[in-house]
Amino acid sequence: MSIRFENGVFHLTNGRVSYMISLAGGKYPLHLYWGKKLRRVEDDLTMRLAGRDANDFNLHETPLDRLPQECPTFGMGDMREGMLHIRQEDGTTALDLQFVSHEVMKGKPVLPGLPSARGEMAETLILTLKDPENGIRVDLLYTIWEDTDTIARSARIYNEGKEAVTLEKALSVCVDFTEADYHLLTLSGGWARERAMELRPLVQGDQGTSTVRGASSVQTSPFMALLSPGTDENRGQVYAMALCYSGSFQGIVQVDQFRAARMMMGIQPFDFSWRIDPGTDFQTPEAYLTWSDQGLNGMSQQFHQLVREHIVSGPYAKTHRPILINNWEATYFDFNEDKLVDIADCARKRGIDLFVLDDGWFGHRDQDNSSLGDWKDDMRKLPGGLRGLSEKIHGSGMKFGLWVEPEMISPDSELYRAHPDWCIHAGDRTRIECRHQLVLDMTRADVRQYVTESISQALERGQVDYVKWDMNRNINMVGSALLPADRMKEFHHRYILGVYEVMRAITERFPRVLFESCAGGGGRFDLGMMCLMPQAWTSDDTDAWMRCRIQYATSLVFPPCCMGAHVSAVPNHQTGRSTPLATRAAVAMGGTYGYELDIRKLPEEELQEIEKLNQRVHAWQDVLLYGSFYRLQSPYQGNESAWMSVSQDGKRAVVTHVFAQSQPNARSDLLKLTGLDPAADYREEISGKTYGGDALMQYGIPVDAPWNDYKAQQFWLERVDR
Ligand code: GLA
Repeated sequence: MSIRFENGVFHLTNGRVSYMISLAGGKYPLHLYWGKKLRRVEDDLTMRLAGRDANDFNLHETPLDRLPQECPTFGMGDMREGMLHIRQEDGTTALDLQFVSHEVMKGKPVLPGLPSARGEMAETLILTLKDPENGIRVDLLYTIWEDTDTIARSARIYNEGKEAVTLEKALSVCVDFTEADYHLLTLSGGWARERAMELRPLVQGDQGTSTVRGASSVQTSPFMALLSPGTDENRGQVYAMALCYSGSFQGIVQVDQFRAARMMMGIQPFDFSWRIDPGTDFQTPEAYLTWSDQGLNGMSQQFHQLVREHIVSGPYAKTHRPILINNWEATYFDFNEDKLVDIADCARKRGIDLFVLDDGWFGHRDQDNSSLGDWKDDMRKLPGGLRGLSEKIHGSGMKFGLWVEPEMISPDSELYRAHPDWCIHAGDRTRIECRHQLVLDMTRADVRQYVTESISQALERGQVDYVKWDMNRNINMVGSALLPADRMKEFHHRYILGVYEVMRAITERFPRVLFESCAGGGGRFDLGMMCLMPQAWTSDDTDAWMRCRIQYATSLVFPPCCMGAHVSAVPNHQTGRSTPLATRAAVAMGGTYGYELDIRKLPEEELQEIEKLNQRVHAWQDVLLYGSFYRLQSPYQGNESAWMSVSQDGKRAVVTHVFAQSQPNARSDLLKLTGLDPAADYREEISGKTYGGDALMQYGIPVDAPWNDYKAQQFWLERVDR
């Protein structure tokens, strides 16, 4: 791995990918290349373009308008959207960022206040640019890792001038492509149908994905990729970006008059600004660039490696996760201690490790219209409080987990009556509730302190082993009682920095606890959250077929060890659909496995099946959660979905295939596997049959045409050592 500077070119490479920046024009860092490793590039094009003066072009252009750049700004001749936009005290915004110096360091710097990937096996290039007129200095950070074909980028903006400036746009990354012959892949959706794959050809003008909701959201996802024509799961070039940020973001691809594409991502510029006083600075979130010439699976392998090795942390990052049972869909708000202990007991007898008490244990919350913020045990439901319940659960040998929604406040709460100005609000306007709740103003230190202490006390009382950290509404009315009017546009970013601070404080205070983030399902399923909590609830939709779609698309960026997935009751509470227990379990094994149903109501034969499933999950968890994951058949393209995981040592593999509707007169088919050793043989545990790795990949494994709807088949392969 190396970062070199030769003949005016910075070259970052790990032996498989190259990222090159040219200083051909002397002044500006120009984007030269990103993709498969090259030895060098003769920088003729940028030299030629940079060497010309404006008169060589037609009336509407300057050289910068044609040059591929690393950190474009508006006002110096580039007429495309810029990455940074800064307003000076005199109101003007031209920004001339010229190269000053560079530095290469081992590892990577910690980004103040923001979650970011760790720098093991990494090197970082810092390019320093400066505007000679106004003292604005920008450090562009580029990190390359040895073990993943991913490059992290961010920017830090320093005010070394004499006057305050206002940052009006601060994206994290810009990559200029010399052509636009790509399809844009984004993820979009809604509540209970998060992250659906959307693919469209690039056209001249703007396209992309963005949100103004104050969260990465169920509607959008801070990820986008450009796919070369004909790209599928295993073939084609993919250029992907994902942002390590949980607030409003923007991802934009702008195609210009010459069909050159500019791809950028970062904090949403709408309703954003940040004052930078002299001597202070601003750090943008980190964006990850992943390139692959092996299609979408190739891209995902690189993201998964990044997430597993450099993003998730804590004692559960690489170890067995407990099998949990959550009482939400079993009881909703209607529970008492006896009922909970009963459910937990029944679950424990069948090999479930962790009982999670969901919403409704505090204040007087019998519906979703009260008590958020009052993190005091409801003694009507829990006569011994959290402590009493947790002692019983622990006493029986299970772990105990708890749901909290720390960022929220119900108008019907003691907290709201005591501190009506602690919620986000706009002066005297009627406060717009959503799910009967308001959002706490996490930009305030007093609010952050209250949240940290009250939640910590609850976790201590409950001696919890696991926390589900929920967030059930977005921010629409922006306003804080403490922020001055001219800084109100800092609100959204300050909010998310406040959330990160509280999450960091609480996760550090409880280092042995397993944290799972959640946001009305998968409404904050992003890399920022994943730095703080190693798993996230993927969706409130637990229907097996819908989950095939949601988990399939989520796996573009996230490995199975990040995706909360549960077996729930049938008919399913979100779709009314009934699917067999084995299918629900097979799909839930695509993530961190658990249950979300009243286990007491299941017939004995299903309970026995659950016992066996749990044993299997434990025995194969290292493959299911931490193996190399491959998508095999897309539920977006038909009636089937299939995926597989191969253990890191290559010795074991699990294959899952799901049929949606059964069809009459259908024939059994062959499913081609991938990621195996062609020279090895594999024994399938259930059938006892042995197959050649080459045949499994070239010829395939037979999957039966099902008689009923929603049938899953799983194959458990173990390498036969000769
Ligand atoms: C959100 C979560 C659910 C559940 C409820 C409780 O919708 O996604 O899993 O915890 O809140 O109110």
